[in-house]
Parts: sequence; structure tokens; C-alpha cells
Amino acid sequence: MGEKTASSNPPPAAQARVAQLRELLARHDRLYYLETRPEISDYDYDQLYRELADIEQRYPALQAPDSPTQRVGGAPLPAFQPVRHRRPMLSLANTYSRDEVRDFCSRLARLLPEGGYSFVVEPKIDGVAVSLRYENGLLTLGSSRGNGEVGDDITANLRTIRSIPLRLAVAAPPPVLEVRGEVYLPRAEFAALNRARAAAGEPEFANPRNAAAGSLKLLDARQVSARPLAAIFYGCGEMPGLAVREHAQLLRYLQEAGLPAPPRCWECPDFPALLAAIDALQSVRAEFPFETDGAVIKVNQLALHERLGVTAKSPRWAVAYKFAPSRAATRLRAITLQVGRTGALTPVAELEPVSLAGSTIERATLHNADEIARRDIRVGDLVTIEKAGDVIPAVSAVDTAARTGAEQVFVMPAQCPACGGPINRRPGEIAWRCENLQCPAQVKRWLMHFAGRDAMDIENLGEALADQLVERGLVRDPADLYQLTAQSLAGLKRLGAKSADNLLAGIAASRQRPLSRLIFALGIRHVGLGMARVLEQHFDSLDALAQAALDQLEGIRDIGPVASASIADYFAAPRTDGLIRRLREAGVNLRRLPDAATADRRFAGRAFVLTGALSRMPRAQAEAEIRRRGGHVTASVSGKTDFVVAGADPGSKLERALKLGVAVLSEDEFAAMLSDGPVPAPAAGSATPMAVPDLRRPGELPL
Ligand code: IVH
Repeated sequence: MGEKTASSNPPPAAQARVAQLRELLARHDRLYYLETRPEISDYDYDQLYRELADIEQRYPALQAPDSPTQRVGGAPLPAFQPVRHRRPMLSLANTYSRDEVRDFCSRLARLLPEGGYSFVVEPKIDGVAVSLRYENGLLTLGSSRGNGEVGDDITANLRTIRSIPLRLAVAAPPPVLEVRGEVYLPRAEFAALNRARAAAGEPEFANPRNAAAGSLKLLDARQVSARPLAAIFYGCGEMPGLAVREHAQLLRYLQEAGLPAPPRCWECPDFPALLAAIDALQSVRAEFPFETDGAVIKVNQLALHERLGVTAKSPRWAVAYKFAPSRAATRLRAITLQVGRTGALTPVAELEPVSLAGSTIERATLHNADEIARRDIRVGDLVTIEKAGDVIPAVSAVDTAARTGAEQVFVMPAQCPACGGPINRRPGEIAWRCENLQCPAQVKRWLMHFAGRDAMDIENLGEALADQLVERGLVRDPADLYQLTAQSLAGLKRLGAKSADNLLAGIAASRQRPLSRLIFALGIRHVGLGMARVLEQHFDSLDALAQAALDQLEGIRDIGPVASASIADYFAAPRTDGLIRRLREAGVNLRRLPDAATADRRFAGRAFVLTGALSRMPRAQAEAEIRRRGGHVTASVSGKTDFVVAGADPGSKLERALKLGVAVLSEDEFAAMLSDGPVPAPAAGSATPMAVPDLRRPGELPL
């Protein structure tokens, strides 16, 4: 760390290095977020970032608004300022059938009798509409759609999104370029965010769109930066002097300028080709990281957009074709309350079993008591259950006309259904909570969290066993796990001597988990695994973290004020001291383990997919081993996957890997690679940037 000088004349070497670091970081952001083929590990990225931040701190004259260190701005805003859009942000007319798409084509044929046009079909991204303004290449304004005429200035929030360039990557940027697109929370990130929120006792988001919208409404950009939002841009507002004549060309231009474009688009000459493109989109959309709620059909020739003009709210040159969500009607049998680890009570709809998009649904979340009241959902109602994409099913509608009068309004009980303890709602919070720290339902959830795969990874500690341990008073908090013996487990139901041994072995092995896992396992509100890893980088022991002052925590990039306060509160709480002391006495590792991060980075930037049953090591361990060496693990196989590790009964992922020519490793080969075997270079073609719009004719698509 260099000393702070207010030098206004930084040496040329520092200037050159700053320019070089900014370019490097922008390039790695691009590789990571746009092309999803990182070349360096997160660790190496952080090293470059820190070096840049250090130099900028030493020479404040070198600071610049487009520096990657300036993504997350200063203090929270009191409110968003209104922004009038220079060009309105229109919405699209919807169509729901092929006949309506045909009507759209017929209308165009009437309006443009001389022909000479084609179409582009794009995914309709189910996110939050935003507009970005670049002046001379520099991002100067980011706004929400609002009512289409006036939106909010959410520049500070949009700047935190790492796939949004702060400066356009073109040599001669136009004086003004306004781009329109959609911010979304990638599906995998949505699932992780909800898991973390559930683990942290916070209400879950209903779907990725709500999560993205809620995130962009936060007034503190530091909190937004902790949400892994992404964006896709598909159009322009003001763009004086930009010499593009076709929409397809515009998409390519945006892509070249470093803005993420739709992953797949199709250029279509006529109505039959449109239908083929819609079918093609429907068959690939599950692979997109965002929810796709339809197809957008646009006339390709931009000059015709002017000529066709707009109706009251939507352009005549484009239309949305909406995919039908999977829906089913069923009876709401009861509303029960699930007690979370921090005591939050989440109402759950208990349903008459119904089949929906291939699975039987018996339960759906109802989020919170206010939501039930607002939507007047009553026990006994006939309700519609809806599931879009991978999203958890939700009650989307209530058939009030079908009521008999026997339906019952839901009333929040005065006591916790699990322990009979008092329940309470803290000011400003949506969730009701059971206040009894000994509530067995809370302790069970806490144990399950502590033992979870991403936490202390204690094998063989399932829900049924956790129930018995708590009910028999053997375990009142996770530290008690380390006191269990073969003798104390002897009387438990469905736990033979061998399983008891396995459980004890699992508990013993968990004593040596890395510090980040322990931090996560403690279940501090707002602290997910990602944040726990960040904390581990800054504190070499749990004691050091426990003693950290609030401003020390707040000073860490990626740790917002809410999480900082929650961490400080956690360590100030009376029972935390005792818990840590007993974990220490039980021999649980409370220190940062020797830094594996610098030792072996042979998998840096490589993407792995695990499939089938692994017999040599638990899946979570395989994932951890990959990450420790700088690689990353993704859920599905795509052109960007480097290796598929196939265990027994691998299924469709293996088929897809073979089809795409992705290298497939047996478990033995994987183990050899882990120990010190060579890591093959990426296969040619496996790193095709997915973000390049694929503007082939539907007939030519290899589907
Ligand atoms: S074009 C003037 N293209 O859908 C036309 N919109 O329901 C402006 N959307 O307000 C929109 N994906 O927020 C366009 N590929 C796409 C889109 C898209 C999602 C959103 C957009 C729009 C809404 C209309």
C-alpha cells in the first residue's frame, strides 16, 4: 500500500500503467461477461483491480469516471431524479397465436405494398427495460422506463452492472448514442440469490424479473453491486449520425461497441420463415441465462420504421409473440407457515396435487402475509398456478367467482406454529418472525444450513435426522454436533451403527473446512457464500472478523452497509461468543487455510460441467476442487464448456457434450487432472462467443 500523496503530476510510468490496467480489466470484463470465456481467474482479476485502485488512490489526478474502480459510486441517494426520455420508450403490441402473427404480416403488406423488407426475430427478454446514453463514447446517463416518457435516473445502479461498458469500445464513437435494452438477473444467480435470502431469513423474490426490478430500485448502489445483474441491448433511442440501415446491422454494431446483444436472432424473409424462427427460438430458449417470455418480430429496414410510425403506444414495425406460460387450476387446501433459520415465517400454499409442465405440484410459496391479504387469497379457493421457465410455481390468480362462501380468510397466528413462542414483525420488515431462539424449527433449519453442501458439507445429516437430534435435545446449536458420540446417537430411529459412524466421520471431517465455509455456515443474515469468500480474503481468522469495526467492514468492496451492519450485529449478539468458543474447543478450524488460491491455478478460466453419479468424491468436493484451481462449474453444457466430467448414468448432458464436441473426462481422468495431470488446451471452436448475434435464416439453422 503506497502512501497517499495529493500529487497532481503522477509520473508517466503510473499513467501508463493505469491506462494499461484499465484496458486489461475492460478486456477481461468483456471476456467474462459478454463472451463467457474468461481467460484469467477471479483471483488474478482481483489482483489487477487492486493494483489499479492502489495507483488511483496514490495519484487522485488519475481517477476517471470510466475506470472500473468507479463502478460503485458513493453515498446512497435520497431519491431518484426524474429523466425525460429524448425519445419515448415504447412498448410492444402482443400477439398470442400464429394467426395474429399472420395478421401483423398482412397489415405490413397493406402498408408497404412495394415490399422490399425483411424481419428480425429476437428473444423477448423478461427483464426490466432501461435506456443508456453514451456521449462521445462515455456512459453519462442510465434510466428506467417509467411511464415511457419520464423514467428515473438510475445511472449509479446501472454502472454497477459489469456487462455494461462504461466506455464504448469503438474507435470513433458517435456524439450521442442512446441504447435500449433489458436488465435481468441470470436464472442461476436468481436461484442462488433466493437460496441465500432464504438462508439469511429474508423474503424470497417471486421470479427473476421481480428480483431485477427490486434491485434497480435500491437507492444504494453498493447494495446493487452485490446483485449479479446482467443486461442485453436490442435497440436504440437517439443515434444521430450512426450510419446503419438495418436492425441486424445495429445489433452487430452494439455488439462491437461492447454492449451485450441478444444471444440468438434470426433474419426472416417472410411469414413461414417467421414461424420457423419462433419454433427455433422456443427450442433453444431454455439455454439462455434469462427468462424468455416470447419472440419479438421487427422489420429489419430502419428507414421503414420512420415510415410505419407508431400507434398510441407501440410501433407498427414490431410486435411481440408471447409464449404461453404453463398454468393449471387447483384447490388451495391450506396455508401453512414455514419457519426459517432466522425465524422468518413464510406462508406456503398447500395445494390439491396438480400436474404442471411435467411435474406434480403440491406446494407453492405465498411470499408473505401482506401479499395474501392484498390478493385476497382464501383457504378453499380455486386458484391458478403458473410456472414460467424454471421458476418456482406461484399462485397467479384466484377464481373469486367460484367461491361458495365456505372459504376462509388467512389470519396470521399469534404464536409460532412450531414452538408456540411469540411472533413479531420488526419495523420496516415484511416478514413475521418467531422470536424464540430455541424454537426447534429454527434450530433444525440452522443445522441443515450449517451442514449444507456449500457450508460445512456434513454428509449424512438429513432432515429426518436433524429433526430427531433437536427433538431429543441432543443438539441446540451447531456446536453441539461436535459433542455427538456413537453412544448418544445409539437410540435414534432409522440410524444403524454404520450410518451413525458415517455421520460422525462426516462431522469430524467438517472440522477442517475453509474459513469461508464456516463464515457462511454461521448463517449471518445477508452473508452468502460469495460474501463469505470475500470476507475470508480480508480476515485471516474468525476472531479477526469478529473484532472488525463497522467502518472496516464497510470499506470492503462488495460488502454493502446492510451486510456490514448485519455482520457487526451478529458478532455483538450475546450468544455468538459462546458459540465460537465451543466451536474452537471442538477443534473446528477458525483460520484461513494456507492459500490454495496462489498455489495451483491450472484450471483458470476453464468451464466444467459435472454429470452423472460421481463415486470418487462428493459432487460438492469436485466443484470445490475445480474452483480452487481457478476453474468454474456451470449447470448446463454449451459451446463454452471446456470439460464434462461424466460419472455413472450421465444422461443428456453427456449426449450434448458429444454433439458439441466438448471434451469428456471419466472420473479417473478428472482425478488425474486434479492431482497434477496436464490440462488440455481448449478445443478449437469451443470458445465461440455466444453473444454474436446469429442472424442466419431459420432454414439454415442447425437445430
Ligand atoms: S423492442 C419500440 N426487443 O418488452 C420497441 N423489446 O412488452 C421497443 N423487450 O418495452 C421494444 N425484449 O422492455 C424489444 N428483444 C426485445 C425485447 C423487448 C424484451 C421488452 C421491452 C418492451 C417490452 C414490451
